[in-house]
Amino acid sequence: MGRYSLPAVFLVLALIVLLWFLSIMPGNISWSKDGACRDCHSGPKAAELKLDDVYVKIAALQYRHSVVEDEKCELCHILRGFKTGRTWELASPDSYKEQIFFLKDLSVDRKYQVALKVKDGAGNEAPVNPLQFIPSNVAASMDNDQKAPLIRNVITTEIRQAVFLEATIKWETDKPSNSIVEYGLTPQYGETAVSENVFANGHKITITGLKSGKQYHYRTISRDIFGNTGASSDFILDTSAQINNTGEGGVKIVDRTRPQIKEAAVFKIKGTKDIFIKFSSDKPVKAYLTINEPAEIDKHGFGLIPARASRIDACIKCHPQGASHPVGIRSKGSKTKISPDLPTIEGGMITCVTCHYPHGGNKKHFTRMNFERDLCIACHTGEPYI
Ligand code: HEC
Ligand code: HEC
Ligand code: HEC
Ligand code: HEC
Ligand code: HEC
Repeated sequence: MGRYSLPAVFLVLALIVLLWFLSIMPGNISWSKDGACRDCHSGPKAAELKLDDVYVKIAALQYRHSVVEDEKCELCHILRGFKTGRTWELASPDSYKEQIFFLKDLSVDRKYQVALKVKDGAGNEAPVNPLQFIPSNVAASMDNDQKAPLIRNVITTEIRQAVFLEATIKWETDKPSNSIVEYGLTPQYGETAVSENVFANGHKITITGLKSGKQYHYRTISRDIFGNTGASSDFILDTSAQINNTGEGGVKIVDRTRPQIKEAAVFKIKGTKDIFIKFSSDKPVKAYLTINEPAEIDKHGFGLIPARASRIDACIKCHPQGASHPVGIRSKGSKTKISPDLPTIEGGMITCVTCHYPHGGNKKHFTRMNFERDLCIACHTGEPYI
């Protein structure tokens, strides 16, 4: 990296993105207005884009489909609902040498970018390369080991009066797991405090809103990424006195060495779709993740809908299915063979558009061939149906 100032680089990038965005948008994002499709699919612009002038083609038809003339193009072509991007932020609750983040609610086929920052207790930051992945392409590399996390060294490190009276509980596990504390004034507990999305060997949970001068029961629970769960025995926490066992305030050794990331990997568990990100470092660090799902825009703004949806689903919104011929089927091979002159999708599937031109046609009912005879025998080559 040269010595360019970061804000300046961002500004230039933002400008490029903006210009690109403006150049692909036809000046009007509202597709339902007349002209949005026309802007590119007719006239000189169509020629420039090497597209057929679909409006000229439609105007020349003998029988026209009224929905097309009404310029309701998007009924059959455009997916409604702009895919906006989303951003999540996650941070470790404490510093760990090994930690796993669980990423919730991702779409299987979008491309995600993860920006990462790690910091040790003295504030030294380590550079981490951003990660990129598409959930459906991530390898399922982990198999359930069927072992419950073993909980040890449960300790109340602090009871203090902040805005509310609160207590901090720490414990350890023999494998990366999440952190749950159940607590209450009886051994039945009744309340829980949870840190669900980060899995580590060290655990720290602060429970807040406690009453002073009481004896609270609590136990700690840890679940690993597979769902195997371990629980501690019952402990008592007495809020009649404030305590501080955090070990802070002693002599601090100033450490200026940057932490080193040893591993940063995205993985899935076999048989599930959940995505995890794992880090390990040479010393305990807090990790800060910003997960970004970019907005998706193509020249159609919303995206063209898939072939099956525009050739069957869109049609049966207005016409009863079964009014003419079965669709969504393939030849069973014995008596029919699909004519190469008739368009099918997904390698041989019949749609409404296999027999009808969608925008209208030069034959009655917009059929591609004479339907009294030729159309049927184009496929029904064996025993005649008529
Ligand atoms: C900014 C220019 C632009 C606009 C506006 C636009 N299109 Fe397109 N469209 C294209 C280009 C370029 C293609 C060529 C295929 C590709 O690159 O995706 C295309 C392809 C298509 C195709 C697929 C054609 C094929 O042969 O498979 C359809 C259908 C389509 N557009 C419909 C529409 C509809 C309906 C609208 C209005 C709601 C629209 N387009 C608006 C530029 C545009
Ligand atoms: C009733 C549904 C429907 C409507 C309404 C409709 N289309 Fe289509 N259109 C289709 C289907 C289905 C296909 C694909 C069939 C094919 O390739 O023969 C298609 C094909 C196309 C194509 C590529 C093939 C070609 O003929 O050049 C373009 C471009 C297109 N449509 C643009 C438009 C525009 C612009 C409008 C509005 C004026 C529109 N369509 C209205 C269903 C529709
Ligand atoms: C928004 C409602 C709507 C959608 C969607 C629609 N149609 Fe139509 N269609 C009509 C109407 C209304 C008519 C009758 C007026 C006309 O001929 O345009 C019609 C007429 C037709 C006809 C001619 C009927 C005749 O008696 O000659 C055919 C064939 C046809 N549609 C096929 C399709 C196919 C194939 C699709 C999907 C690609 C489709 N339609 C989608 C409303 C729709
Ligand atoms: C295998 C060819 C074939 C397929 C596939 C097909 N049709 Fe037809 N369709 C025809 C023929 C031929 C006619 C005219 C003869 C008749 O009336 O039965 C027709 C007639 C029609 C008519 C006008 C007659 C009426 O009932 O008002 C409409 C509308 C229509 N089809 C819509 C569709 C739609 C929507 C689909 C998809 C769900 C579809 N067709 C699939 C061949 C087909
Ligand atoms: C694109 C090819 C194609 C065309 C064109 C076509 N068919 Fe079919 N048809 C099929 C296929 C595939 C089947 C499913 C059974 C099979 O594979 O034999 C089928 C099934 C049928 C069935 C049985 C329906 C059922 O539910 O069992 C009838 C009746 C039929 N077609 C009549 C017609 C008539 C009448 C025409 C002319 C208007 C026609 N077909 C045009 C491909 C076609």
